[in-house]
Amino acid sequence: MFNALDENELQVVINAIEEVDAPAGTAIITEGEAGDCMYVLESGSLLCTKMFKGKSEPTKLKEYVPGEGFGELALLYNCPRAATITATVDSKVWRLDRDTFNHIVKDAAQRKRDKYDAFLQSVPILQAMDAYERSKLGDAVQEEKFSTGDYIIKQGSSADRFYMVSEGRAIATKKQADGSQKQVMEYVKGSYFGERALLVNEVRAASVIAQSDVICLSLERDTFKRLLGPLDEILKRNMEEYKKFA
Ligand code: CMP
Ligand code: CMP
Repeated sequence: MFNALDENELQVVINAIEEVDAPAGTAIITEGEAGDCMYVLESGSLLCTKMFKGKSEPTKLKEYVPGEGFGELALLYNCPRAATITATVDSKVWRLDRDTFNHIVKDAAQRKRDKYDAFLQSVPILQAMDAYERSKLGDAVQEEKFSTGDYIIKQGSSADRFYMVSEGRAIATKKQADGSQKQVMEYVKGSYFGERALLVNEVRAASVIAQSDVICLSLERDTFKRLLGPLDEILKRNMEEYKKFA
């Protein structure tokens, strides 16, 4: 969420943040109540649950790890809390009040979510994702621009990002035994690459080179693992394709 802020805006947010203890078992947010703040988990672990119609027990939606934000929906859309969030161990959270959120974070974050939402909805690999989790991707992506001939990824280098093509064309090439380069893949809008090294903890297996002006949306390693974790199986299955193009 705070990715969308500039330095000054970030400073205002930092000054407004209050640290709050949440001993194990505390419900920091209760579904159905009114909300007047959002939170970031500093340390500990939280569980998010929601009551669905026709069910007697709440459904577990997700666990939060330090660095993740929550409780923004009630402020963004002026609606009751959509889920309950409880500390599973002694935890510390940062609390950001509604006024600072509304004046500083809301517009910037909403603009960023809106800007990328249509594109993220159109990316085939993301179709299997829950709409809420996809909106969190909108917060986390970073836009990077490349020109024809630029190396977006270099074969053999260490890996820290995952990429989706938002505009333009690119190719993947692999070095052959005789030293030549062979094209193994072509990328257009909606394609993704750079997942392999992050999933298997290896160096980059191919180079990816821009064939026009290219705009990529990228995710850094931890965000990729956290937000695209549910797609792990699909991503790994798709990697089988690479065996055909050595
Ligand atoms: P808010 O509705 O303010 O309070 C509950 C929070 O749970 C919500 O904001 C989100 O930050 C978080 N949450 C996590 N997963 C979901 C989900 N699938 N649907 C709705 N809220 C969710
Ligand atoms: P990664 O190894 O992280 O970086 C290079 C990327 O090129 C790789 O992830 C894949 O996303 C992509 N790629 C395309 N074709 C191949 C291939 N035949 N072998 C390996 N990687 C490929």
